[in-house]
Amino acid sequence: MADFDPWTVKEIKDYGKLMSEFGMESFDKYQERFDSFRYMRRGIIFGHRDFGRIADAMAKGKPYAMMTGLMPSGAFHMGHKMVADEIIWFQEHGAEIFICAADMESYLMRDIGFAQARKIALEEYLTNYIALGLKVKGLHFWFQSDYISEYYKLRDIGSKRVTFNELEAIYGELSPGKIVSVLTQVADILHPQLERFGGPKPVVVPVGADQDPHIRLTRDIASRLNADRKDEGQAEPDFPCIPPSATYHKFMSGLQGGKMSSSDPKSHIALSEDPESAAKKVMSAKTGGRNTVEEQKKLGGEPDKCMIYELYLYHLIDDDLELSKIYHECKEGKLLCGQDKKNCAELVKKFLAEHQKKMASARKAAHKLIGGKA
Ligand code: TRP
Repeated sequence: MADFDPWTVKEIKDYGKLMSEFGMESFDKYQERFDSFRYMRRGIIFGHRDFGRIADAMAKGKPYAMMTGLMPSGAFHMGHKMVADEIIWFQEHGAEIFICAADMESYLMRDIGFAQARKIALEEYLTNYIALGLKVKGLHFWFQSDYISEYYKLRDIGSKRVTFNELEAIYGELSPGKIVSVLTQVADILHPQLERFGGPKPVVVPVGADQDPHIRLTRDIASRLNADRKDEGQAEPDFPCIPPSATYHKFMSGLQGGKMSSSDPKSHIALSEDPESAAKKVMSAKTGGRNTVEEQKKLGGEPDKCMIYELYLYHLIDDDLELSKIYHECKEGKLLCGQDKKNCAELVKKFLAEHQKKMASARKAAHKLIGGKA
């Protein structure tokens, strides 16, 4: 049986299990130190591997990189915004930024053509990243299908340091395309440590918990690539490197509960969406309300099950006091869902209107960065 398959995981119900079974560490001990960052302070980033190395590089002002990837699949929504905010936070905290458009993975695993993947990566992802505040200066952004030769060499030598059985144990049933996707992701994560980018350095990979199998595999391959190979008559290790670190975030739920997905417009608010249509979605989102107003006044609402509360928690309300006030008023049955949804719809409209003003110049910057390629 495979650990779990990152391409079919729907919802992760038990984050604790990831820690106890797969050795992910809790992020608790960094929560206070990085309390200026909403996702860290609120436990949305709940787990890590070797984050100490990154915290240390930050504290000492030493070089480190942040690397993450996106599979271009559809509209850029609030769930993607969380990743964008994380990337931008690391950039503001001194990381050199590497972002991969996983067009080979989307071709092999999701049947998305290369031209379409390029368009989505550029128009949806990169443009929104820039509009949200990502700086293009010093940014590395590439497509898996079209990159430097050392990257492909690294992917291929990686294949020598893992067995078929290991891959099967992690991913379950294999296919050639799956193996290529996985090894390409290993190269994505390790290649910021190539000579041409300054050699070995700490690299942090902020991802959703579903990506942990790839992180574990990459860390294993990294330590083998880094091993002394003198016995085999090699003067140098295959690839001198430091095992990558990772942070893991929880997923936002869809507006109707379940998973937020780019292919289901009812489940998400896209950042390019008409603010009025977004407001309507908010008004019909799943809440933690009771069956009747009387019941709710008596029993109180359940903010922990409410999609409106999640929107506040992840995105719309940065002030903890304000958020806690809403939480308690809901629980005590003083704030009812109708009013709460109206308040939320206003915040969403305001956010989208402001964000969308920045899109035109962001799109220009994105096209300039990718040049004639897309
Ligand atoms: N597999 C990731 C996804 O499904 C995309 C991805 C490709 C990635 N390369 C990466 C993520 C490297 C993190 C690091 O979204």
